[in-house]
Formats: sequence, C-alpha cells, structure tokens
Amino acid sequence: MKKKIISVVGARPNFLKLAPLHEEFSKYPQTFQSLVVHTGQHYDYVMSDVFFRDLDLPKPDFHLEVGSANHSIQTAKVMTSFESVIQQSRPDLVIVFGDVNSTLACALVCAKNRIPLAHVEAGLRSFDQKMPEEINRLLTDQVSDFLFVTEKAGMDNLLKEGIAEKKCFLVGNIMLDTINHSWDKILVSKILQQLNLRSKEYILMTMHRAGNVDSPKKLSQLIEIVRKITRLKPVLFPLHPRTSKNLKNLGLYDELKQIDRLRLVDPLGYLDFLCAAKDAIGVISDSGGLQSETTFLNVPCLTLREVTEQPITIELGTNTLAGFNADSILKWLKKVLDGETGKSMAIPLWDGKTSERIVGILRNSQW
Ligand code: UD1
Repeated sequence: MKKKIISVVGARPNFLKLAPLHEEFSKYPQTFQSLVVHTGQHYDYVMSDVFFRDLDLPKPDFHLEVGSANHSIQTAKVMTSFESVIQQSRPDLVIVFGDVNSTLACALVCAKNRIPLAHVEAGLRSFDQKMPEEINRLLTDQVSDFLFVTEKAGMDNLLKEGIAEKKCFLVGNIMLDTINHSWDKILVSKILQQLNLRSKEYILMTMHRAGNVDSPKKLSQLIEIVRKITRLKPVLFPLHPRTSKNLKNLGLYDELKQIDRLRLVDPLGYLDFLCAAKDAIGVISDSGGLQSETTFLNVPCLTLREVTEQPITIELGTNTLAGFNADSILKWLKKVLDGETGKSMAIPLWDGKTSERIVGILRNSQW
C-alpha cells in the first residue's frame, strides 16, 4: 500500500528545502503519496508565492493561513489547524524542516497524535537559547523518529542529547540540492541589470534575525554600518518585512533609504537572490541558510552573530562570525577586498544528493 507523507512548510527557508524532496518522492508514485501543508507563517508574495513559482512547487494541498502573531499564539494556531489536517488525512509520516515556529508546532502535534515524524536539518545547535530557533530545534529533535542531519557536528549534538543513534542519519545539506536543481535558471536571472549593478562590484547584505532587528540600538547602528560600507562599495540590501517594519516604527527607514550607493529593495525571489549572492564580492548577513549557500558559491560571508549552528561553514566554508560591530565588519571587508579571505572546501555529503539519500532511507526503513 502507498505511504501517505505530509511535508509541512511555513516560512521562506522551508520552501527551499521542500523542493528537491518533493521532486524525489514523485519518482516513486507507487510507493509514496506526497502532500504539502503550508502553515501560512509567511504569506506575502515576496516571502512565499515567489518561491513556489521559482522552485516549481505544487500548490499546497492544505493551507492553514495562520499569519503573523507572537510566538505562543502563532505556534498554537499552527497546532490547532494542523491537528485537524492530520485527523482528517491520517498520514503515515510527517516531514518538518529547519527551525521555524511552524516546525515545532507540527512536530508537537505529531508527537501527541503518535504520527511518525521526520526532521530535515536535525541536530544543528547554536547553544544560544535566546534564539527562538534554538528552542524549536531542540524540542523538534526530541520528538522526531527520523533525524536527517546536515553535518557531523549535528550527529554529535544529537547523541550527546541522548537521542538513539539508529534514528539519526547524516545525509548532507538539502539546500545544495536546491541550488543544483535551479542552477541553469539562476544563471539567466537578470537581477543585476535590473538593479544596475555589476558582477563582483557590490556587497550583498541581509538582516532579519529577531536578536538583531528587534533592537532599536542595533538598528541605529545599522545605518552607520551601511554608510561606512557604501563608502567602499555599493550595497544591495533586500529588506525583510520584520526589519522594514521595525525601521519604519523607529523613524529610521527614510534615513537608511537615502544612503548613497545603497540599493534598498523588497525581498528577492529565490533565483534572483541566488544570482545576486553568486555575483557579490561578499555577503554580510545574519541568515542561517546563507552561511551554507555562500560556502557552496565560494563567496565570502560575514555572519552578524556571536554563534553559528553550522560550524562546518567556518571550518571548511567561507563563513566568518562577527558580532554587530562596525569595526569588525570593516576589518572583514578590507580583507575581502584585498583577496585575503579563504576559499571553501568540499564538505562531505554537500553534493546535491541529500534528497535522494533521505528518500532512500525512507524506502528502506520500517515505519
Ligand atoms: C522566521 C523564522 C526565522 C527565519 C525567518 C526567515 C521563527 C521563530 N523564525 O522569522 O527562523 O530565519 O522566518 O524569514 O519561526 N511578515 C510579513 N510578511 C510575511 C511574513 C512576515 O510582513 O509574509 C512580518 C510580520 O510583521 C511578522 C514579522 O514579519 O510579524 C516576522 O515574521 P515571523 O514569521 O514571525 O518571523 P521571521 O522574522 O520572518
């Protein structure tokens, strides 16, 4: 009998991870029925629909439309709506991705309803429980039955937390599958021409992490930091809605927008964004995913955080950590402009075949 699998996505980084896995399931139509639930944590065209378009994702089978709210309300709304979905459709397995609130909410519902659960991107730890994502990761892993891990450090973390080894599988980073699948389309993106930017002549910047952009002090510093960087090179800065909203509330948005040589734009779609990252001199960001994407693209990345949940991007990749501090950012930028930052090395299992491994494990396991 066919196994019914529900993959849950809610926020921008989840959509990328779903694409290659959904495609891999579709190669086994006799074995799997693959359904998609969109929780609606992200709902704007630029945060959601454009990714479904760029990645050829199917229209979700269920849309929960939970929208934005504080953490408890958002998590509770996802749980209530998702419980109805699984009671109605009784899946054999649920797959959740990454570390967003929708991930944890659906993981808890599965645990309470005794539905087997797989977590893609399990085991990552920043060891900073002030980050909401860290709580989501820790708790999701505790209730998962299949833990698909991106890097060796993730396996070590899970074993230290007492999770049975037989549930943990080192499969590599699925975001690399997504880049591989989309590479030809990334290459023909016209985003640089549209923004009047030239390859390897600008810095790409993004910032959305609550710990950074919910701090008025850091947002004021951001203006100064961007001003200093643009004196050296033009900056392309696609603005996340959380950051945009907070800048506007503090009356800082117009000041930022007026900075010379800054292209302040709405969030970009997947293909345009990856094209912009590939052609940047360097990337300055507090994103999780960009740490691995820049490693793949071999573009220097400065992560504006004290800690990372992906240590391999520092050991073998192009990633460097720096707190939110103008001096360290400018020091890094100078090194990049002088060609003094290292190149990335091949990372075990970051080879574009992660979705194949995951589906292989699911085909060959009892559940
Ligand atoms: C969430 C994830 C974060 C991930 C990020 C990617 C959690 C705890 N955080 O953070 O790990 O890196 O997504 O973007 O799940 N908003 C819109 N339109 C949208 C979505 C959000 O305007 O489509 C605005 C709303 O004002 C909302 C705010 O952005 O309140 C924050 O959205 P939310 O999903 O709560 O968290 P993110 O900051 O996006």
